[in-house]
Amino acid sequence: MSDTHLPRSVGFDTLAIHAGQEADSRTGSVAPPIYATSTYRQDGVGGLREGYEYSRTANPTRTALEQCLAALEAGTNGLVFASGMAAEDTLLRALAKPGDHVVIPDDAYGGTFRLFERVLRPWGLEHSTVRISDPDAVRAAIRPGKTTMVWVETPTNPLLRIADIEELAAIAHDADALLIVDNTFATPYLQQPIRLGADIVVHSTTKYCGGHSDVVGGALVTRTPELAEPLAFHQNAMGPVAGPFDSWLVLRGLKTLGVRMERHSDNAERVAEFLTTRPEVTEVYFPGLPNHPGHAVAKRQMKRYGGMVSFKVQGGEPAALDLVGRTRVFTLAESLGGVESLIEHPGRMTHASVAGSALELPPDLIRLSVGIETVDDLIDDLAQAFGA
Ligand SMILES: Cc1ncc(COP(=O)(O)O)c(C=O)c1O
Repeated sequence: MSDTHLPRSVGFDTLAIHAGQEADSRTGSVAPPIYATSTYRQDGVGGLREGYEYSRTANPTRTALEQCLAALEAGTNGLVFASGMAAEDTLLRALAKPGDHVVIPDDAYGGTFRLFERVLRPWGLEHSTVRISDPDAVRAAIRPGKTTMVWVETPTNPLLRIADIEELAAIAHDADALLIVDNTFATPYLQQPIRLGADIVVHSTTKYCGGHSDVVGGALVTRTPELAEPLAFHQNAMGPVAGPFDSWLVLRGLKTLGVRMERHSDNAERVAEFLTTRPEVTEVYFPGLPNHPGHAVAKRQMKRYGGMVSFKVQGGEPAALDLVGRTRVFTLAESLGGVESLIEHPGRMTHASVAGSALELPPDLIRLSVGIETVDDLIDDLAQAFGA
């Protein structure tokens, strides 16, 4: 399956629906088949059909997703994994070696920090944390000759800080380092890091790409085929691949990514505005608000601002823990990016692993993944939770 049937230049939503997904050549099946097979019949030894040999190495449903994501991220190659963490681990073990140094954000998904701190530091990979919204701080954190990667999330999880991708790409490349961008929060619909100079894009496809809270997955998309080569080798050698059914679910989710992100962005804007009017709220973190310190950069490099909103409440941790238990439409749960709205307490939930580190979060912080429900219901729900 390929996208050779598409006109040379088509829009994002056309790619999301068609890239990598030409109708099945045998039956004409419009939906890509789920190739539930571990192995492939060979026409004589080494006589592979379209290169398929064994499903850890490649599977046609996975190939369809990999091609679709590469097209959406404007990269050359896509690789998909069993989870976002599997994608990150593969990237780091394939492209870094013990003794190297990576600059990482001082606000990031807790699991990413845990991978650097508890898994890769003992392996010999050093890191230092930096405020990625401050390009001078990133430049200063680079250790010449040792830093091989600058790793950013933008917007960050959960404080929604914004990194200037174009500027950080120039800083990283001046130091012969790669710029890696975790694009999970923005998605390629809102932001395409490779077009802005990044070398590799990382995704937890569990989130907006899948979009329905029914699958765990991860992805890498590269700027060049040369970067993809060691990643594909490690993907096969280590085996953290996405299965065909999981690949199919993410592929199906991607078809509606554009319309979902528009609605997530509409709803999050309304929810963020509502939160700014509440006396119980002491701070709102949303890059779409004009007073957000990253607003100008976000406006330049993102199409809209996405569906994530964080805020702090009066009354400290007890008040925050109380509030997250009182919503009825927002579900108290980890994760994000699905059609349904979720609420959580990062310090005790998604980011418990950063306690005591430079990434430790304020105890009065609450994170919302604003879904695509009727927005008035979301606002009424928060109002009743505050009012209770
Ligand atoms: C920004 C970000 N990157 C990576 C991950 C890890 O992805 P997964 O949970 O699919 O392993 C997450 C998970 O929450 C995330 O929020």
